[in-house]
Amino acid sequence: MKKTLLIIVSAALIIISSCRKDVGKVQATDSVPCGTVSFAQEINPIITQKCLSCHTQSYVCGSLEDYGTVKTKVDNGTLVDKVEKKLMPPSNPLSDSEIQLIKCWVNDGAKNN
Ligand code: HEC
Repeated sequence: MKKTLLIIVSAALIIISSCRKDVGKVQATDSVPCGTVSFAQEINPIITQKCLSCHTQSYVCGSLEDYGTVKTKVDNGTLVDKVEKKLMPPSNPLSDSEIQLIKCWVNDGAKNN
């Protein structure tokens, strides 16, 4: 009987400690600066792939075709807002890691790097 209890307790401890690690990871990326994210190498490819089917120069809702037009949407606050709430792209939202990457880039000043 005691042995069973011991097994249950240790199993619970293992599960709890593995959960803790996950929580720690999420907090780390949220609170710690995430390092340099490159517009040319990391952000622009996501936008090219996921946004330019609609957001070209002639598009009424605004172009996202180059750094300047993307920066305008960063500065007016709409880019992070739409992406974070998974409203953009409309039917196929970005993955959590892509969203995190965009937020890191914006928090770091949305540089043309
Ligand atoms: C299927 C077409 C489509 C795709 C793909 C798409 N959008 Fe949009 N986008 C729209 C439409 C339509 C609107 C206007 C409606 C709205 O604001 O919700 C819009 C509006 C926006 C706005 C607000 C513009 C403003 O100034 O108010 C932002 C920012 C935006 N999109 C960013 C993105 C980003 C970033 C992506 C890719 C990750 C993306 N969109 C992909 C169709 C699209």
